[in-house]
Amino acid sequence: MTRTYSQERYLSAKRTVDDRSLDQHVLDELELVLAGSTEIVEVGAGIGTMLQRLLDWDLLPDRVTYMLVDVDADSIDAARERIPSWASAEGYTVTEDDAITLARGEQEVTVETAVTDASTYLATATPDLVIGAAFLDLLESAEIDELFERLPKTAGEDGDFRMYIDRTYSVTGVGAVASGTIMSGTVEAGDELLLGPMGDGSFREVEVRSIEMHYHRVDEAKAGRIVGIALKGVEEREIERGMALLPRESDPDPIREFSAEVMVLNHPTSIDDGYEPVVHVETISEAAVFYPDGGTLLPGDTGTARIRFKFRPYLIEEGQRFVFREGRSKGVGTVTGVEPEK
Ligand SMILES: C[S@@+](CC[C@H](N)C(=O)[O-])C[C@H]1O[C@@H](n2cnc3c(N)ncnc32)[C@H](O)[C@@H]1O
Repeated sequence: MTRTYSQERYLSAKRTVDDRSLDQHVLDELELVLAGSTEIVEVGAGIGTMLQRLLDWDLLPDRVTYMLVDVDADSIDAARERIPSWASAEGYTVTEDDAITLARGEQEVTVETAVTDASTYLATATPDLVIGAAFLDLLESAEIDELFERLPKTAGEDGDFRMYIDRTYSVTGVGAVASGTIMSGTVEAGDELLLGPMGDGSFREVEVRSIEMHYHRVDEAKAGRIVGIALKGVEEREIERGMALLPRESDPDPIREFSAEVMVLNHPTSIDDGYEPVVHVETISEAAVFYPDGGTLLPGDTGTARIRFKFRPYLIEEGQRFVFREGRSKGVGTVTGVEPEK
């Protein structure tokens, strides 16, 4: 009883701290995936503060099932008590059954709960998105491996290896290390890769010295894994976030300009030729200039635009989704065509 009380107090107090410390880039990516998810599972959900946050920040789609999974029955009980009373105070109509339904305006969220281990739950569930906030650090390395095995597969393990670089490190005795989530394919120690594009559009030949996953050295890693790859043939200062690693035999085009379908979610006036937000795509965050087809896009509009990175090219592909922001204005988009630099 004492433990539950302190866990609940701890988790509710922690929320305001987490609100401010969540990684903006992760949130940007999450926002895109949330927009396309109708079944979300949160593992290690505690008392449901992440759900409250996503509702508060208006990040959930109109119709969604949100499953809270936690091994701790007292936390789930606390969530089932807190969410309805919080939601009523926020103007939601709350219906409680096995599931809790929260309805307000166009939005209807069905909240379900399960008291079970995360891996056990994911052995049979096939949600669109699995959220685990402040959770992985509680698991042993073998438990993390098991959990990752059970995640629904979105990335193509069979495709060519590709990883967008998230962070870089310089490790004494090892050299440059680039970390990120493997987007597709498999990487092995000794693989010969390309890194880039560099600022001038060129790609650099590098070799995989070693691979680390959750602080353990591994011989190979596949799509979906978060890894640190030690690289031969490059200095840490030459590697930048947003560059990609891909097989040596590929022939990638550096892309400075692309066309896209965009939706303006929030903008004080109109978006005209020359609008300059920051575009976030994969791990790239870069100033870009917009040229809307037809000259103007209004808030709420969906339209097409040509978009040009202001300073340098990146590896961009058709179908990639992105967020753009400038001050309080915000929108989302999908790359529909790329124009390789001549
Ligand atoms: C630090 S809390 C985070 C809660 C919430 N996600 C948040 O950010 O406020 C971690 C939660 O994970 C739960 N947990 C720990 N191991 C678990 C497992 N193997 N399966 C499911 N839940 C687990 C704990 O009971 C606890 O409620």
